[in-house]
Amino acid sequence: MKWAAIYIFAQLVHHIAGEQEYVVSNEQLESFEGDSETLVLFDNLKTVGRERMINGSFSFLGDMDNDDFKVSVELYSSPKSDGDFKRMVFDVPQTNICECFKKFYVQFVQPSVSDGDTTNFPIVGEDTCPIPKGEYYIKNVLFNTQDWPEQVPRGMVKAIITFFTGGKNVGGFIVLVNIADRQ
Ligand SMILES: *[C@@H]1O[C@H](CO)[C@@H](O)[C@H](O)[C@H]1NC(C)=O
Repeated sequence: MKWAAIYIFAQLVHHIAGEQEYVVSNEQLESFEGDSETLVLFDNLKTVGRERMINGSFSFLGDMDNDDFKVSVELYSSPKSDGDFKRMVFDVPQTNICECFKKFYVQFVQPSVSDGDTTNFPIVGEDTCPIPKGEYYIKNVLFNTQDWPEQVPRGMVKAIITFFTGGKNVGGFIVLVNIADRQ
């Protein structure tokens, strides 16, 4: 009874503090090239230090307008973290790039980089379009999950983020995270 009460109290504190009941750690970050040309470069992003913070830079070689560029997100889960990955149902099919940034970058990435110092990538809002050409740095970022869903699978989750233009893959990256219950 006592432990149950402490557990519930701890959950409540996390909830009030805006913390999730899980902890996400970066495991791996890997870039890939496009089929015939690569317009988005993530090969200079690395995980650094014991905490595997995301650090480095990425580049968009041209402005990416909403009509010509799309992004897809494939998600795979390995609940036992044993490398046996199954496709998840929450995939994002090829979606126009500005819509994709407004929906997913804003929810999943922006809270982690919004202190004004960790990246020079512009803050994405309702009117952010096209996604601007440029080289952008990211300094030692850990995921802030405040706006992530409450329900996420535990174990390894792999996201494959692919950029397209004219139906052709023009590069992307794969991020591997480990999700565990908050102790
Ligand atoms: C982080 O990235 C910056 C910019 O690319 C680089 O100068 C720095 O050496 C990186 N830090 C580590 C620990 O790798």
